[in-house]
Amino acid sequence: MSKIGIFVGSSGGVTQAAAEKLEELFDGAELINMEEDYDDLEQFEEFDVLLIGSSTWGQGDPQRDWVDPLYEMDNDEPDLSGKKVAFFGAGDQDTHGEHFVSALAKMEDIFKKCGASTGFGYWPTEGYMYKFSLSEKDGKFCGLPIDDINQEELTESRLTEWSKQVRQEMDI
Ligand SMILES: Cc1cc2nc3c(=O)[nH]c(=O)nc-3n(C[C@H](O)[C@H](O)[C@H](O)COP(=O)(O)O)c2cc1C
Repeated sequence: MSKIGIFVGSSGGVTQAAAEKLEELFDGAELINMEEDYDDLEQFEEFDVLLIGSSTWGQGDPQRDWVDPLYEMDNDEPDLSGKKVAFFGAGDQDTHGEHFVSALAKMEDIFKKCGASTGFGYWPTEGYMYKFSLSEKDGKFCGLPIDDINQEELTESRLTEWSKQVRQEMDI
């Protein structure tokens, strides 16, 4: 059975709540909060599957608890080959629609650089209203955007559907 790690950075608790729901949906998954439970990059090695969660801040940047680990990954390039990775995170498509959930793409680029297998959990852009997102690639988001500010009523069903899709695509 694949070991699943859900690593999450969340300032206001929205992406954290999503991660907790994913923990229920992915049997046996372990939840690692980047502020409280994360020690170093070696923690990624314990898992076969990484579900990487971050809200977007600033000008489309990952949440603050991801800043140092991503910087380290970008420089040290730990070997993540063989790891299947998918991304999710909160944003605000209305007030911050010029950089909606752009953090997902920035994280994907760095995980890819470290040799991880990405491309799982890509999600349709239909149903969202935003101006621009770095995370839109070939007409899909490179992960699951959630938006509790404008579309809270859709979050639970999005997470449920996404978890089914990811399980199928990763064959886990
Ligand atoms: C100062 C500030 C900057 C933000 N920048 C972005 C952004 O660039 N893109 C985006 O999609 N959301 C942006 N947001 C919205 C947050 O991502 C959103 O509130 C999210 O729900 C926070 O999730 P969290 O509670 O998991 O941290 C911003 C919010 C604030 C207050």
